[in-house]
Amino acid sequence: MPNVNKRRLCGEFRLSDIGKEVNVMGWVDSLRDHGDILFIHLRDRSGIVQVVFNPAKSSADVIDLAGKLKTEFCIGVAGHVIERENDTKNPVLLTGDIEIVADELEIYGKSPALPFAVSEKAAEQGEGVIVTEPVSEEIRMQYRYLDLRRPSIHDNMVKRHRVCKNIRDFLDMCGFVEIGTPVLTKSTPEGARDYLVPSRIHKNKFYALPQSPQLFKQLLMISGFERYFQIVRCFRDEDLRPNRQPEFTQLDIEASFIDEEFIYELIESLVVKMFETGGIDLPRPFGRMPYSEAMDSVGSDRPDLRFGMYFKDVTDIFADTGYEIFKQILNRGGVIKGIKVEDSSGMLSKNVLQNEYAKQIVPSFGAKGMTWMRVVGDTLQSNIIQFFSEEEQAAALKRFSAKDGDVILLIADMSHKTVASALGQLRLHIAERLGLIPDGIFSPVWVTGFPLFEETDEGISSTHHPFTAPERKDFNPQDREELLSLRSRAYDLVINGEELGGGSIRINDSELQHRIFETLGLSEADVEEKFGFFVKALQYGAPPHGGIALGLDRVVSMILGTSSIREVIAFPKNRNAYCPLTDAPSQIADKQLDELGLLDFSRPRNIPGMHEEKELMDSLSWLSRIGIKDEENNLIESALDDAIRLGSVMKKHAGDEEPAFSTVKIENRYRNGDTARVCDLAKSGDLLKNAPSIKGGFFKVANIIE
Ligand code: AMO
Repeated sequence: MPNVNKRRLCGEFRLSDIGKEVNVMGWVDSLRDHGDILFIHLRDRSGIVQVVFNPAKSSADVIDLAGKLKTEFCIGVAGHVIERENDTKNPVLLTGDIEIVADELEIYGKSPALPFAVSEKAAEQGEGVIVTEPVSEEIRMQYRYLDLRRPSIHDNMVKRHRVCKNIRDFLDMCGFVEIGTPVLTKSTPEGARDYLVPSRIHKNKFYALPQSPQLFKQLLMISGFERYFQIVRCFRDEDLRPNRQPEFTQLDIEASFIDEEFIYELIESLVVKMFETGGIDLPRPFGRMPYSEAMDSVGSDRPDLRFGMYFKDVTDIFADTGYEIFKQILNRGGVIKGIKVEDSSGMLSKNVLQNEYAKQIVPSFGAKGMTWMRVVGDTLQSNIIQFFSEEEQAAALKRFSAKDGDVILLIADMSHKTVASALGQLRLHIAERLGLIPDGIFSPVWVTGFPLFEETDEGISSTHHPFTAPERKDFNPQDREELLSLRSRAYDLVINGEELGGGSIRINDSELQHRIFETLGLSEADVEEKFGFFVKALQYGAPPHGGIALGLDRVVSMILGTSSIREVIAFPKNRNAYCPLTDAPSQIADKQLDELGLLDFSRPRNIPGMHEEKELMDSLSWLSRIGIKDEENNLIESALDDAIRLGSVMKKHAGDEEPAFSTVKIENRYRNGDTARVCDLAKSGDLLKNAPSIKGGFFKVANIIE
């Protein structure tokens, strides 16, 4: 029998092994039956080797057993290495000069028919070439253990490990200590909803899973560790996108007695090392761009700087324009900005510009429309060019340094934010569509000088989190205008338009921290309840400190060039935050809910405002949001009394009966029986004969919701 203790890895065999007795173990990647002789490609974590079952060389028992092999059976083989005939050597396989003649075979695990091919056909194509069949992601996730057997995905996990190993070595060298922080904890504000865990021991109380270890890492600075890091799981209940997971991993870092320059230097060296793992040389030093410049030039705080097409403001050019739409917008304090798409006249036809971009795509970005102009010779052409004076046209040409074949796209709006956002999205859309983004280029940039606060529907909130230090401390918490103009000491690391990390220098003064909370509208009681422990700790000699967190999944995904971060996470959730493999989240038995106190509906509920309604009728009115007039009060109260009395009578008579959803037998009034059927009139088409419009056998109605 094959000997596990003498096992060698499939991928390591070379000509120097000829004549050796060997033991190999792994999975059947593929089989080829050449009459009597069976060839298999055996795959393990190191690669592929060919094993031959030849009746002239192996025993009848081994040949019989080999006849039962199918792909992805897990097997062990004891055999000897021979050189392949010259014309059967496989130059694209590292082990292609040799093969192993099987003397013994053991089947460790059989496999039923596979939901998708695991083999990436490395044997035929060479190990560098990956051939995969398109498989739905849902099926891949459901059988993730098989998906992870595929060499390309397997390799992603191994490379991720390498990146983590490099991080640990590097940070250790720089004096950083890895320290774990709690997973069952209290809410940390990072802008998303919390995942909550009910406590069995403390009924009606909940732990929150950390959105980040922010407060704990700051506590560790107060504890004097000075340099902390952690590769840590974080949890955020937010809308998912390809680069977001409900459960993701951060490389979390914090240091004391430092400033922004320390962080830039440390992270640039570290990130360059991380990218080296994937064979990518990042240019250093990374660029730096103030938030205001990013918004003015590309309309996003995640600037993609791999290509140009920076915004030009042309508001002044059209200040006295006769073009009615621009005139109205500018009269109301609006702005006009645009981009130049070089040499694109041939690709951006009048039809594409007007019917696709102006009418559909740009409105979907939030702007009302788009004005386009094509440069022909030294003049401008457009569907509305007649509304612009010669001076305006000449000035626009000059502002954009536009030449024959270029296209100018303008967006005008009353809201400066709308112009920036829509033009930013348009810039990316056009660049992708016309293939203007160069491959293999990485443009890292630090975005700095973010506003400390932003305006929301509820008032003012922190742009990052409330522990971020402001650029200056002497602000008035009541002066809204001043607050919105304040900058913070935060920085984001952006590469190719993707936010890979963010952090800041923190507040280390409890009085200032209190003032920030006050500005955010938190009462002393709120602060005490949410962050009392933290504000208290800040009083005990907190050092100046700051840090950053990198989204590890995003960094690894960018290094490996995968289409989504799900490709670098062993067991990710799908786009609906669901795990098709384990069926999580799943329902919980009533018994378990009861143990956790979650079935106890009689407990006092903390519905805001409810405690102010003393009377039953007032409370009912408040809860149902239905105003009850004084004259209706008695009538409704007596109807309610009747209902309560009836309820208690029913309860008495019901005894042990299970509660029912309805007291009336439920039946389908539209058709008999349970199975759906198509009636004869529908089959013949008579049913919809008089319908004004029909589509696919259905009555067509006007679109209500798009
Ligand atoms: P922030 O909220 O910017 O900062 O998070 C840091 C980085 O984590 C990544 N990230 C995510 N990755 C995958 N899925 C998600 N749902 C997700 N959310 C965030 C991003 C992001 O840049 N405590 C602060 C850091 C600090 O101030 O030190 C924080 O968590 O790449």
